[in-house]
Amino acid sequence: MEKHIVILPGDGIGPEVTNAAKGVLETVAAKFGHNFTFETHEIGGSAIDNQGTPLPEDTVAACRKADGILLGAVGGPKWDDLPGHMRPEKGLLGIRKQLGLFANLRPVKGFDSLLHASPLKPEVVGGSDLLIVRELTGGLYFGEPSERRNNGQDVVDTLAYSRSEIERIVDQSFKSAKVRRNKLTSVDKANVLESSRMWREVVEEKKQEHPDVEVEHMLVDAAAMKLVTNPAYFDVIVTENMFGDILSDEASVLTGSLGMLPSASIRQDGLGLYEPVHGSAPDIAGQDKANPLATILSAAMMLRHSFNMSVEADEIESAVQSVLNDKYHTADLKVKDGTQVSGSELAKKVSEQMTSNDTTD
Ligand code: NAD
Ligand code: IPM
Ligand code: MN
Repeated sequence: MEKHIVILPGDGIGPEVTNAAKGVLETVAAKFGHNFTFETHEIGGSAIDNQGTPLPEDTVAACRKADGILLGAVGGPKWDDLPGHMRPEKGLLGIRKQLGLFANLRPVKGFDSLLHASPLKPEVVGGSDLLIVRELTGGLYFGEPSERRNNGQDVVDTLAYSRSEIERIVDQSFKSAKVRRNKLTSVDKANVLESSRMWREVVEEKKQEHPDVEVEHMLVDAAAMKLVTNPAYFDVIVTENMFGDILSDEASVLTGSLGMLPSASIRQDGLGLYEPVHGSAPDIAGQDKANPLATILSAAMMLRHSFNMSVEADEIESAVQSVLNDKYHTADLKVKDGTQVSGSELAKKVSEQMTSNDTTD
């Protein structure tokens, strides 16, 4: 099959991890006889430096024409003092919004061989397998007004949702729950926020259409606690943009590292932007230390969700599992008696594993 992939490396470790994932995608293409073509565009800080804007028009145009988009990460200390509309992060928010990628799927499933890599007790982490469905183009990140007022004496951010924005993400979460374990936890702050009270109403309405799904509501503070005390309790969590951002970094602890968590930012027609949950990690950028597995697993999600290539996606995921079973890991993972390698070496091991598994001829 022919597929055209746009790569947005971004800043910090972004170029390292997208390069690693590109190598794995090339291995998949060679092994399965696909023709993947790649086109790279700027976003974030590098786009500010070279083109004067965090989201150049040609980047958006290329993404609109792509079959799939793979993003590294944006941001870094160099751009932290720029005004809000010129920050690298605005590029990422802009591409999500302009492409209408309202649903961010963040699966959190630990690999058995990393059970002891988490700072949490293995008996707590064991058996956890959850999916955070994060609303991605509304809520506190996008509500207007958002500004400083009265000569810098007052400031406002707005948490706004339309009913239809809540409905479509709730629909997506039911869809996800039905192909998993039929359990949905809607996380909100309905004891304080009006937006959360409407969120609850929508979930209650929609649940009538899905009698096979067990539904509950949980306040976000309690959910944060339960995620690290009894994570196996959860199947699918659906939540507002910012709550989902925070809870997913917290949930990454279950897997041993933030460098392990992939995500898919999707809309109804199948187009998706695939991005690791982590950021640009300026503290380790340029040293080939970054864990590429979150981005490699994001590429696997692209194959599954946007290209309908589930066999190829499974192949990447089981190669990652084998490499971890062999105890190869990057510095962020604490693996007892393991072999620490660089990010590019770890990605190469994943490709080698797929090649040595060759059963197609
Ligand atoms: P971060 O996720 O970049 O890093 C947090 C910690 O996790 C750091 O210690 C980092 O070294 C480590 N880490 C992250 N990814 C790793 C990987 N793949 N391998 C090994 N270690 C990894 O978060 P931060 O430091 O709070 O933010 C840095 C910059 O990244 C900020 O400018 C922020 O806005 C941006 N950011 C971007 C994205 C994105 O583009 N999707 C996401 C989060 C943060
Ligand atoms: C993420 C990041 C982004 C977000 C930032 C960089 C805008 O933290 O993808 O989780 O908050 O959505
Ligand atoms: Mn985040």
